[in-house]
Amino acid sequence: MTQQQLKQQAAQAAIDLIVPQLKPEMVLGVGTGSTVDLFIDLLAEHKGRFKAAVSSSERSTARMQGLGVAVTTLDELAEPMPFYVDGADEIDTQLRMIKGGGGALTREKIVASAARQFVCIVDATKLVERLGAFPLPVEVIPMARAIVARRLQEIGGHVLERAGFLTDNGCVILDVAGLNMLEPEQLEATINDIPGVVTCGLFALSAADVALVAHADGVRRLSR
Ligand code: A5P
Repeated sequence: MTQQQLKQQAAQAAIDLIVPQLKPEMVLGVGTGSTVDLFIDLLAEHKGRFKAAVSSSERSTARMQGLGVAVTTLDELAEPMPFYVDGADEIDTQLRMIKGGGGALTREKIVASAARQFVCIVDATKLVERLGAFPLPVEVIPMARAIVARRLQEIGGHVLERAGFLTDNGCVILDVAGLNMLEPEQLEATINDIPGVVTCGLFALSAADVALVAHADGVRRLSR
């Protein structure tokens, strides 16, 4: 089975979880990435059965609007959303993640924080024993790029600025390899505390609640 087919299965599993619970007044949080693109395509088939989605990126907004899914903002929410669905670049068995391969990490963290349940959809290649093989994306205010890069080097990182890329927030991404991720919660807090950092792609303090992991022999559900 190809990785694309596994992504499709993970996306379908999220549909199977969420669609029976849809209500006309419900707002859903939607992440970003190639796995989420597949989820959006499937979700659009049920667009009459929920009110709207809050999007974590211009990319997902365009895809949903193109398929006729109503997109709203966090400002319009009267209460937390029941679900936020998103992919990950790595996830461990405690459902801590590295995200931001697509550069949408900050809006993903914000929209996820407005939902009761984070449902992570991944193919099995993303499931790891220990986080850290995937370079950690860090979103940085452009004027602070050099000083933040130095601070990240001081804590052991090898820093590469993502070339020719600006986030939806007009910021740069530093991809940081080689960090010690034995204590991801502590590392997330340390990096987020560096002046100039908007946020880092570690979702350890805000781990997923449920992971739907597509293996060749079926989708396995992990929860905290
Ligand atoms: C977007 O910024 C990321 O956090 C994605 O959720 C992550 O990169 C997973 O993307 P894929 O589903 O394309 O692998």
